[in-house]
Amino acid sequence: MSTKLPTEQELTQARLRLEIDGAVATVVLDRLDRRNAMTARTWHTLARIGDALPDDVRVVVFRGEGDTFSAGIDLAMFDPEGPDGEPSLLAQAQQAAQSDSGRAELEEIIAGVQRGFTWLRRPEVVTIAAVRGHAIGAGFQLALSCDIRILAEDAQLCMKEPALGLVPDLTGTKPLVDLVGVHRAMELCLTARTVDAGEARELRLAELVVPAAELSDTVADLTGALLTVPAGAASATKRVLQRAADASGLEEAAAAERTAQVERLFALLSGE
Ligand code: CAA
Repeated sequence: MSTKLPTEQELTQARLRLEIDGAVATVVLDRLDRRNAMTARTWHTLARIGDALPDDVRVVVFRGEGDTFSAGIDLAMFDPEGPDGEPSLLAQAQQAAQSDSGRAELEEIIAGVQRGFTWLRRPEVVTIAAVRGHAIGAGFQLALSCDIRILAEDAQLCMKEPALGLVPDLTGTKPLVDLVGVHRAMELCLTARTVDAGEARELRLAELVVPAAELSDTVADLTGALLTVPAGAASATKRVLQRAADASGLEEAAAAERTAQVERLFALLSGE
C-alpha cells in the first residue's frame, strides 16, 4: 500500500494502538476510562489503517484494552458540543436538516465512518475479534465486521442503537442477518437485549468461547494456524467463501470456484 499508516500521535488521538509483528497486526481500542468508547475519529483512523496496512500483514486482531471490548459510540457524540473537539453527530444532523443537500451530505459522513469497518472484509486479510466483556453498539458491529469472533466467557453483546432511537449503521446488519437469520436479528435489535457468551455461541455469533485468561493464547494459536495456509490460497478462499455466502444459487458459487481455481493453478505453475 502506498499511503502512510497513522502516526503514533494520530493513533493516540483516535484512542487506538496498532502493533504490527510480521504478518500479524493487532488493533487495540485503547480508552480504558471510557470503556473503549469510539468516536468518528476512531473510525476514520481505522479506515486509514486499512488503507495503509503493509501488504505482508495477513491477520488483523481487534481487541479492547482491559476487560471490555468496547462500549460503542462515545455518547458525547450526541451532545451539542461533541467529544474532545470533534463535531457532534446531532449538530451535524441539525445542520443537514436545514439545506436541500443536507441529507446526501449526512449520508456521505456516514459512508466515511463506515469505511473504518468495510475493509475488514478484504480477502487479503483475516480479521479476528477477541472480545472480553461488553461489545455494545458500534463495538458489536466492529466484532461482526470481523471474519472470526473469539469470545471470553464474560463477553456480552448488545445492539443498542434502536434503544437510542437509531439504527445500526456501521455495516453490522448484514453479518448479523447472515449469522443468526433475519428473525433472530430482529428480536436482538428490536429489544436491544444483551447476549451472553453462551448464547452467542449457540447463535453462531462466536466461533469459540474460552475462559478470559485463555483469550490471548487462543487468538495466538488461531493466528498461527491461519498462517500455515499459503497467503494466495487463503485470500482466494476467503473470496470464494464470500461469493458463496452472497451467491443466488449453487451455479453462481460453483462458477466463482472455477474462476478462482484456474487462477490458483496458474499461480502454482508459476511457482507461487
Ligand atoms: N460513551 C462515553 N462514555 C462512556 C461510554 C460511552 N459509550 N460507556 C461508558 N462510558 C464511561 C462512563 O460514563 C464512565 O465514566 P465516568 O467514570 O466518568 O463516570 C466510565 O466510562 C465507566 O463506565 P461505567 O461506570 O458505566 O462502567 P461499567 O463497567 O459499570 O459499565 C458499560 C460499562 C456497560 C459499557 C456501561 O458504561 C454502558 O452501558 N455504557 C453505555 C453503552 C452505550 O449505550 N453505548 C452506545 C451504543 S450505540 C452505538 O454504539 C452506535 C450508534 O451509532 C448509536
